[in-house]
Amino acid sequence: MKITIHNVLPAVVLFTGVASTFSGHDSAFALQHKRGPVKPRRVQSLLINPDAQPDLPTAKAANKAAAATGLNLDDIQGDILVGMKKNKQLFYFFSIADPTDFKGKLAADILPLITTTNQLLSVSTQPITLVNIAFSQTGLTALNVTESLGDSFFAGGQFQDLPNLGDPGSTNWVPEFTGTGIHGVLLFASDTDDNINNSVASLESALGDSINKVYSLAAAARPAPNVGHEHFGFLDGISNPAINGFTANPMPGQSNLSAGTILLGETGDSATRPAWAKDGSFLVFRQLKQLVPEFDKFLTDNPIVQHGLTRQQGSDLLGARMVGRWKSGAPVDLAPLFDDPVLGADPTRNNDFTFQHPNAVLSKNQTRCPFSAHIRKTRPRADLSTPEVTFGHIMRAGIPYGPEVSAHEAASNTTSTERGLAFVSYQSSISGGFRLLQQTWADSASFIHSGVGVDPIIGALAGAPRVISGLDPTNAAKTVRLTTDFVVSRGGEYFFSPSLSAIASKLSV
Ligand code: HEM
Repeated sequence: MKITIHNVLPAVVLFTGVASTFSGHDSAFALQHKRGPVKPRRVQSLLINPDAQPDLPTAKAANKAAAATGLNLDDIQGDILVGMKKNKQLFYFFSIADPTDFKGKLAADILPLITTTNQLLSVSTQPITLVNIAFSQTGLTALNVTESLGDSFFAGGQFQDLPNLGDPGSTNWVPEFTGTGIHGVLLFASDTDDNINNSVASLESALGDSINKVYSLAAAARPAPNVGHEHFGFLDGISNPAINGFTANPMPGQSNLSAGTILLGETGDSATRPAWAKDGSFLVFRQLKQLVPEFDKFLTDNPIVQHGLTRQQGSDLLGARMVGRWKSGAPVDLAPLFDDPVLGADPTRNNDFTFQHPNAVLSKNQTRCPFSAHIRKTRPRADLSTPEVTFGHIMRAGIPYGPEVSAHEAASNTTSTERGLAFVSYQSSISGGFRLLQQTWADSASFIHSGVGVDPIIGALAGAPRVISGLDPTNAAKTVRLTTDFVVSRGGEYFFSPSLSAIASKLSV
């Protein structure tokens, strides 16, 4: 018999449909939550929703799609399929101090707070603070869960994988990520810091000495007018895949994937997994520091010189060609010379391209988008095949962290306070997802054609200078030598985000 959250966890079902709002007392909320519905209702979403990003499906539409494929949106943790829409988020990394105590508290105190996919889809069912949890291999081992999840990179942990990811050793790594001492991560997300802080305090007091906090990272969407933009200034979270059984109306150009690309044990995931791992997903976390004033200085100093462009426009064009999109989100493939904010903001058009154009040779033409551009490296579209390949896709769920660039930093062209992207991706295979994109594609100077160079945004060669061609549309052979990595890895960990029923039946007592 298929174990669903409905038949193992009646208490959770109670608040799957609960409506709530910020009362200022999350501990009180947690207690009430266990008893039943809380009033008054939440009136404002805890998620952001920039125009350029596809909307989430309505609960009704998602559940209709889910019913057709057998996906249980009440059993899948909420962060996995919603993408880059968090407003404020805290990543709380912990170690398990007392496994027996923790297992009991996982069932009694954490599980009732875990936010499901369904809950996030309508404001009236959203909790005050989203809570999700994921475990590293050493965390599962501490809980005496010994079966292999069928992913050797998850099993080894990210620190062991460090030499394969382009990082120049561990000098830049947050010390807590060096090793295997992190057993899990709690994700908290809401629309205010107060909500998150209240939630954390309440859970910390419930968990007592069963866990130790190892490290935390607070992250937040950038303030208006840059909501949804990463720190270099480019709108992010536009092109996440549509998932069969969840996404009701895929946007033109959005990749269309079986649920098993992201969720273990679903159609499209062919690896051997223990039954309880079904509907979980591997969560790759990377703290990626961004050197924003240095990046801006590079653009200022190296404008693309082309007839009809001012110096500033040449600098903007260089940045857009490094990313493959303009700051508005408009793709350079469709807007090759100037930003087009109307196109950028239109999700029915801003992802509708393949890099293929009539009268142009796909394997040679970089006049619109360089082969090395970040979005072409990480999703080569027609470059690999038509129709597009179904492997090499991830669900990105990251969020910026750190403050806005200060006047002093801008004037000195030097970062003094760390900022960057708390990168999160979900996938059913770390080697077929994050690692393929980072190691095999972005860090390779010969993907997708020899001599194109690494991805100028995230490609790294262990600190060595990066030589990139194709950035100048008038002279594709011209190379640019980058002596600074504008994105610096501060490390991270590989986690597994289990289904709610797996938490109930396998991980807790
Ligand atoms: C600080 C680091 C990063 C920055 C600033 C960054 C920025 C961006 C931006 C601005 C976009 C375009 C918006 C969109 O299509 O949604 C994008 C797309 C994307 N990025 Fe990143 N990114 C970073 C790290 C990564 C990493 C580490 C990976 C994977 C290894 C990755 C994979 C992708 C993918 C798959 C897309 C969508 C490509 C498409 O579907 O066309 N990014 N990124």
